[in-house]
Amino acid sequence: MVSVLLALGSYLLLGFCTASSLRSDRTKRSSLCYGDLGCFSNDYPFNNTDGALPLSPSHIRPAFLLFSERSNPSAPFQLVRNDRHNLWTSGFESSLPIKIIIPGFTQNGNVTWAHVMMSELIRKERMNVIIVDWGNGSGFPYTQAVANTRVVAAEVAAMISYLNTAVGTTSTQYHLIGHSLGAHVCGYVGQIVRGLGRITGLDPAEPNFEDTPTEVRLDATDANFVDVIHTDGTEYDTISGYGMKAPCGDIDFYPNGGRNQPGCTHETWTNVVSHLELGPHAVGGMLACSHDRSIYLFTESINGRSCTLKGHPCNSYEDFVVGRCFSCGNQPCPSMGYSAASFRARGKFYLATLDSPPYCGNYYQVTVQFGPTMSTDHGELRLRILGTSGLSQTFTIQSTNQQTRRDDGFRQGQERKVMVVSRNYLGNILNVQAQFQEHSSILSYFWTGAVSLSRITVTDGKTEARYLFCIGETVLHSGQPLVGFNHAVHTTAGCPPGQ
Ligand SMILES: *[C@@H]1O[C@H](CO)[C@@H](O)[C@H](O)[C@H]1NC(C)=O
Ligand SMILES: *[C@@H]1O[C@H](CO)[C@@H](O)[C@H](O)[C@H]1NC(C)=O
Ligand SMILES: *[C@@H]1O[C@H](CO)[C@@H](O)[C@H](O)[C@H]1NC(C)=O
Repeated sequence: MVSVLLALGSYLLLGFCTASSLRSDRTKRSSLCYGDLGCFSNDYPFNNTDGALPLSPSHIRPAFLLFSERSNPSAPFQLVRNDRHNLWTSGFESSLPIKIIIPGFTQNGNVTWAHVMMSELIRKERMNVIIVDWGNGSGFPYTQAVANTRVVAAEVAAMISYLNTAVGTTSTQYHLIGHSLGAHVCGYVGQIVRGLGRITGLDPAEPNFEDTPTEVRLDATDANFVDVIHTDGTEYDTISGYGMKAPCGDIDFYPNGGRNQPGCTHETWTNVVSHLELGPHAVGGMLACSHDRSIYLFTESINGRSCTLKGHPCNSYEDFVVGRCFSCGNQPCPSMGYSAASFRARGKFYLATLDSPPYCGNYYQVTVQFGPTMSTDHGELRLRILGTSGLSQTFTIQSTNQQTRRDDGFRQGQERKVMVVSRNYLGNILNVQAQFQEHSSILSYFWTGAVSLSRITVTDGKTEARYLFCIGETVLHSGQPLVGFNHAVHTTAGCPPGQ
């Protein structure tokens, strides 16, 4: 059993890292030409494939599956380039927006998420949606799929040029949405067809694209507007860091810091091994929870009218979670996902989500001020907020700095902030409940086993209403049950002197 797993493991690693046995054959040729799609070389800068050259268009045969509100979702129309009769009978409406969905590694046009996204798009507004099926080129080994992205892109670009000529669509009508390797396909399309309307990159693949020049990967010049959602940019974890960390669009969103998404707990090496029995094709889906989250966040944003995934400008996610970047200044915070194009903001934006759908939640910023006379203590504060419409989950503030791992303790007069994402909107805030738990440590003999609080502030991210709780100097003893503070004073003024 173990040896079978190890054998499968090396097959997987072979697929992901290098196809070394194929390398010597491939490096003999440095360029291939495929008719009107042009020539493809593996020389710099396209030396990111371990020598692999793209397979021929006749092998990959990307299919263009067209869907519209009138089409039968289970029987898409297959668009064929340079076939006018095919186009006339297709139901393609040249005056409507065109969305092209491009899946990634190991996937084909049947992949469930692409169909769910397509249905949501068609429900949103009248449009043509095309899913590109490049299943004959997207499989193992990974480096071959990387090479194939350029031929797939040349096919997509040729289809767009054909539609522009045949029925007068303009390149600005096109919005390409690509996941993982599909995001880089979008980038190559944008290099061939200048002036594309928009590209949405959903966690663009990092392996073999890291630190490559912009012509090799998705970048901001590939369309008039390029928005990117980063969900799996883990730095040191070779198993689960499928996505790019570096910004590569006009606007880059980093939900939950752009890595290790909440609710994705199974991305460990042990689970890689146990899932290997299901074969390489199952692995992509099962291990890529954080990588795939970008898809589900985008899909949710299409018709998620009641909740918007607002991005906040910030130096780092660590600064964002401690509540340092609650405001977007004098311009509105941009929304991540479908409506991102309607905002003028550019740059890196952070947001936090819930761990299961719907992922969009309600933000609260909570500030706690410690009492003026207490002694330093070490531990965690647990808090809950009660409003007229409900109770938040419990959240914590740690005395340990999460970035530096240093524990300087909770100190007198100190202020601590935290961002809370609540599944339900809490309404008017009535009550805050708090509890202190001291760290267990041999040093705790010297600690007082208590902290005191003098003030708590809760700011509602939606209304920006600020609720101030002036609570004197209330002592919380370690291990005591939650203490509730009532009588919220809804005010923008400070606490009265002496409180
Ligand atoms: C590609 O070629 C460049 C220039 O020769 C080199 O610096 C780079 O390391 C190469 N990249 C890979 C992945 O081999
Ligand atoms: C996609 O699904 C349809 C219907 O189930 C099937 O006929 C077709 O062969 C599938 N295509 C691929 C590429 O798996
Ligand atoms: C792959 O190519 C074969 C033969 O050209 C074709 O029948 C099949 O539908 C293709 N599969 C996918 C996933 O595109």
